[in-house]
Amino acid sequence: MTPRPSISFAKHAAPKKGSVVLLSAEGAGLSGIAKGYDSGKALERAFAVADFTGKSGSTIDVIAPQGSTLDRLLVVGVGKPANLKEYDWLKLGGVIAAQFRKAADVTVVLDLPDAKTDAQDAAGLALGILLRAYNFDKYKTKKEDGDGKPAEQKPSKFTIQCADPAAAKKAFADADAVADGVTLARDLVNEPANKLGPVEFAAETKALEKLGVSVEILTEKEMGKLGMGALLGVAQGSPRGARLVVMRWNGGKAKDKPIAFVGKGVTFDTGGNSMKPAAGMEDMKGDMGGAAAVTGLMHALAARKAKANVVGVVGLVENSVDGAAQRPGDIVTSMSGQTIEVLNTDAEGRLVLADALWYCNQRFEPKFMVNLATLTGAIMVALGQFHAGLFSNNDELSGRLTEAGLTTQERLWRMPMGPDYDKLIDSKNADMKNIGGRFGGSISAAQFLQRFVKETPWAHLDIAGTAMGSPSNEINQSWGSGFGVRLLDRLVRDYYEG
Ligand code: BES
Ligand code: MN
Ligand code: ZN
Repeated sequence: MTPRPSISFAKHAAPKKGSVVLLSAEGAGLSGIAKGYDSGKALERAFAVADFTGKSGSTIDVIAPQGSTLDRLLVVGVGKPANLKEYDWLKLGGVIAAQFRKAADVTVVLDLPDAKTDAQDAAGLALGILLRAYNFDKYKTKKEDGDGKPAEQKPSKFTIQCADPAAAKKAFADADAVADGVTLARDLVNEPANKLGPVEFAAETKALEKLGVSVEILTEKEMGKLGMGALLGVAQGSPRGARLVVMRWNGGKAKDKPIAFVGKGVTFDTGGNSMKPAAGMEDMKGDMGGAAAVTGLMHALAARKAKANVVGVVGLVENSVDGAAQRPGDIVTSMSGQTIEVLNTDAEGRLVLADALWYCNQRFEPKFMVNLATLTGAIMVALGQFHAGLFSNNDELSGRLTEAGLTTQERLWRMPMGPDYDKLIDSKNADMKNIGGRFGGSISAAQFLQRFVKETPWAHLDIAGTAMGSPSNEINQSWGSGFGVRLLDRLVRDYYEG
């Protein structure tokens, strides 16, 4: 992996070497400490020549500035400082990291006029740097930099100068944990299916134990005893086995009921006997994006010692096809006792989640359950790739998730549910069928899941469009985005700690 940049915080002091990043408010030119770097007025002239006004995300770059021992002076526009919100600081970090793709020694000067630049802002900027610098190149035997040239395997060093470096360092400890959680989720999604099947994924979750997470791994045999016929039916066409992983972080009060997150972990989805077309099938290595987000979230929460009791459950299978694979028309019995007619073996995620949700609810009686799944192609038809679908039986939970989505810019859009849609999955031959027809495909999938959550407050996030292959942005250039980790970390932090 491209080495992770190192981050530190310091008081303001002009460095003699390396590069310096200055911020400029829109229409204000350089001010405060930044002004001191432009005694020869080279930057001021460059602003005029290049029509630089400090618009958000715009940059001016001066290489080897005359009369200075510095390598580069980079000015980044921030727009109106008073308008900077949490996510803007991440974006700013991303814009800066993008300018230093080669190993570099960078000092970022945080000093803006009438911005209440505080420790949180500095930590957010650092998080943006780390997320932007991520690059999945583990299988490239010749590492390249952003220009296709051989890369130095040295990490860049970012020193963020601000008013209260001690406070920034403290705030960054949490952001650092979140960065690691997102990185883990991205790695899991990017990893190909020959390297990461159910057994290998489960083994990865074991690493969370050193953060204090308890990790239990159920095998096919144990799931068989529990009656998880829906999940096991999907797995039966693959030699790679099946696992259900239960991760527990108990950072809250002993008597507090836990909150729960459940993930779809189909390590590869061929569609089974209802086989997918060849074109684009490689993307189905990412069909465990829900499980990856839950695992990354558990990592983040444990690493920052969140004051909450949290359960993470992931159902891990490969949806493949051999002589033993499940057939269209098969009827399976789920752990809940409800029977399911499998009319399409490619609608497998809901079968996995049916048993994972039921198990989680029965065993832990959680305050709420949120499940994440790359569940339907239809959600991309409905929402594109900038919002994940939100389905819920609970307005409060739904509202909180939506808020967290706006803060983190991992955005959610609530979709309708109801009895009319629920009827679509009634079956002649069993209690329900696993497809509800072409119209409202994401909604009938959600209705299916709802039949396995009883009255527990629940939300389903359909992340098929956002967990993988989503358009890259300031803080993500990776195919696997790690969508859901920042969102749910925010949800926990804002509503369920202390
Ligand atoms: N994993 C897919 C959904 C998916 C498609 C995720 C594209 C990401 C990108 C899921 O298992 C699936 O195959 N869903 C079917 C459901 C249909 C058979 C009712 C779909 O969306 O076509
Ligand atoms: Mn499928
Ligand atoms: Zn799938």
